[in-house]
Amino acid sequence: PLASKAIRPDGYISVGKIKDLSTQGAIASNGGVASPVDGLNTIIVKNPQDPKTPFAVNPKCTHQGCVVEWHGDKNVFICPCHGAEFDASGSVVRGPAGKPLQTYAVKVEEGSILIKA
Ligand code: FES
Repeated sequence: PLASKAIRPDGYISVGKIKDLSTQGAIASNGGVASPVDGLNTIIVKNPQDPKTPFAVNPKCTHQGCVVEWHGDKNVFICPCHGAEFDASGSVVRGPAGKPLQTYAVKVEEGSILIKA
């Protein structure tokens, strides 16, 4: 639960390490770091343009709410329900979804990835 995670005074929560993101390609923060916004997990993925600053994306599809999956080989999130695709920043690449995925502020400090939900 969120209560067991340290929310810092600035509102950020540590969700993993940059080096783990490099080896795993994505970090699904299913270790209890659910988004305080709606209880969904957050997926941290590399920014293909800037490997030092990842994206934190809420995987709830904006079409009808299925959970999108990260395909690191193509740098897209694909929704298993109706095939919508989103890029690493959550922008729509392909419909039927019309709105981008929700994202969260990210910063990196001493190799730790911090997000603010
Ligand atoms: Fe994701 Fe329909 S719910 S494409």
